[in-house]
Amino acid sequence: MECSLWLDTGVVVVASVPGGTSKGKYEAAELRDNQPDHMDGQGVLNAVSNVNTIIAPLLIGRDPTTQTEIDQLLILTDGTEQKTKLGCNAILAASLCVAKAGAATQGLPLYKYVSKLANLTDTFAIPTCIYTLINGGEHGADNLDIQEFQIVPASHIDFPNSLNMGVSLYHQLEDVLISKGAIHSVGLVGGFTPNLYNNTDAFELLVETAKTSSYTFAQDLFFGVDMAASSLYRDGKYHLKDKAQPYSSQDLFDYYSMLRNVYQVFSIEDPFHDDDWKSWQGLTTDLGATTSIVADSFLATNLARTQKAIQEKACNSISVKPNEVGTITETLEVIRQAKAANWQIVMSHRSGETNDDAIADLAVGTGADYCKFGPPQRGERVAKYNRLLQIYQELESDKTQSAPVAVPPAPPIT
Ligand code: PGA
Ligand code: ZN
Repeated sequence: MECSLWLDTGVVVVASVPGGTSKGKYEAAELRDNQPDHMDGQGVLNAVSNVNTIIAPLLIGRDPTTQTEIDQLLILTDGTEQKTKLGCNAILAASLCVAKAGAATQGLPLYKYVSKLANLTDTFAIPTCIYTLINGGEHGADNLDIQEFQIVPASHIDFPNSLNMGVSLYHQLEDVLISKGAIHSVGLVGGFTPNLYNNTDAFELLVETAKTSSYTFAQDLFFGVDMAASSLYRDGKYHLKDKAQPYSSQDLFDYYSMLRNVYQVFSIEDPFHDDDWKSWQGLTTDLGATTSIVADSFLATNLARTQKAIQEKACNSISVKPNEVGTITETLEVIRQAKAANWQIVMSHRSGETNDDAIADLAVGTGADYCKFGPPQRGERVAKYNRLLQIYQELESDKTQSAPVAVPPAPPIT
């Protein structure tokens, strides 16, 4: 869904918002038309109409730099817990347009404007990119259960080198898969969906790929996973094809310890289903000192759930997806609370992404620790990596411009 906003100055800004597949039950509601004979039910004509007939009249004549007030107005006008009336897609499209309009009004790139709005970081840096190379689960082709097998560059790798690593390993993995006759296709976000017997085989192939590259596994790069465990949970157990019997929470717990020790998996997203608080707490207590336990659909970028998880020490990282909550202001508030609890911030895509690159600016402008935009493949992902590159170049040139000018030594007095 895309929204355009015209300023009196003649400037036009455009924002488009994504949709998810492994949606959590606690996220704000995306309004779809559900008319089977139109766009297979996926149409958003009602949400578009809400922007044109309800939201636009509220915004006309307002100062776009008053983001908090405008978002508050949108929230009040919707008036429902999960934004079911106007739809979080309609609300976020407008809210993001307002942020872009505010940045344009102040003549700032979006990440600098966001940093003024959020006041969460004094310095700008490109977050560490988590690259998804293999897809399974609801993003895959029914052959692997884990939704994302990721590589995570080590902190000494700067962004251009990290991008090189992501692109190189993606292509080298393709060669490895071809050589094994395991190539199948790509999944929803562009990661490979190979024909393998089980999830552990995927890690073996990733280790093999890393060995063929110029990077050293467990030194230059580590692994991560998005388990999206709610989608594995049926009849009180988790179902993974690595074992004939389904996994209890305790079995899964042991599986994660193995992944951590054998495959250097340092980031585990949604390790348990969205109501399994006890297991989340246990894993954070046990592995949290060395491993990112990332809440995605578990917290759904929802403030009340985030506050509860902080109190209950249920995780140490959060995946932030603006469309899970619906406004820029609420997104920034969740980041503020998570940072205050010393959690790590992962700014994240949705599987149904658009070419909008604003989440790259949001990541830099809030001082996020990580970005998760999928593999460096396909237009909607590459758009975000390209935006990070632009910001990187801008930050590098800011550095050279603000570096103290060397004073030449005074000429000898003759
Ligand atoms: P989604 O999940 O399919 O709900 O967008 C994507 C993700 O968690 O990376
Ligand atoms: Zn996820």
